[in-house]
Amino acid sequence: MDRIEWSDRLSVGVKQLDEQHIRIIRMINRMIDHVNSQIAVDDWDIISDTLFEMTQYSQDHFDCEEALMNRYGYPKGDHQEELHMEFLETTVELSRTLESPTKHSLEELLAYLGNWWVGHILGEDMQYKLFFADHGVT
Ligand SMILES: [Fe+2]
Repeated sequence: MDRIEWSDRLSVGVKQLDEQHIRIIRMINRMIDHVNSQIAVDDWDIISDTLFEMTQYSQDHFDCEEALMNRYGYPKGDHQEELHMEFLETTVELSRTLESPTKHSLEELLAYLGNWWVGHILGEDMQYKLFFADHGVT
């Protein structure tokens, strides 16, 4: 499966948030690389370790993003919080896949993660780009 390429089109214009998004995407790519290179379904520890790390880090990232939204009164902050919560719940649910992983189930999990992040950054986060820029947050 394809890795996720971060480029300027994914930039939300806030350096700290971009760096966090890049780090999350790097963790997803690490899992994609591992699934792509793995022939037998064994040694998936790196996936569960990385997924755990990504989930924890995503939580920290959401906290940081939501704090910025609250500080400046971003109008869609509540909506973002709901979406973040849904993501974490779904990710925890899907991580049960790792109890008896197959290449296919892992690809589905990674496709969900990749699609969610790219879709969320482009569809939701991009909506605050101008808002934060107007408030001098870069
Ligand atoms: Fe977000």
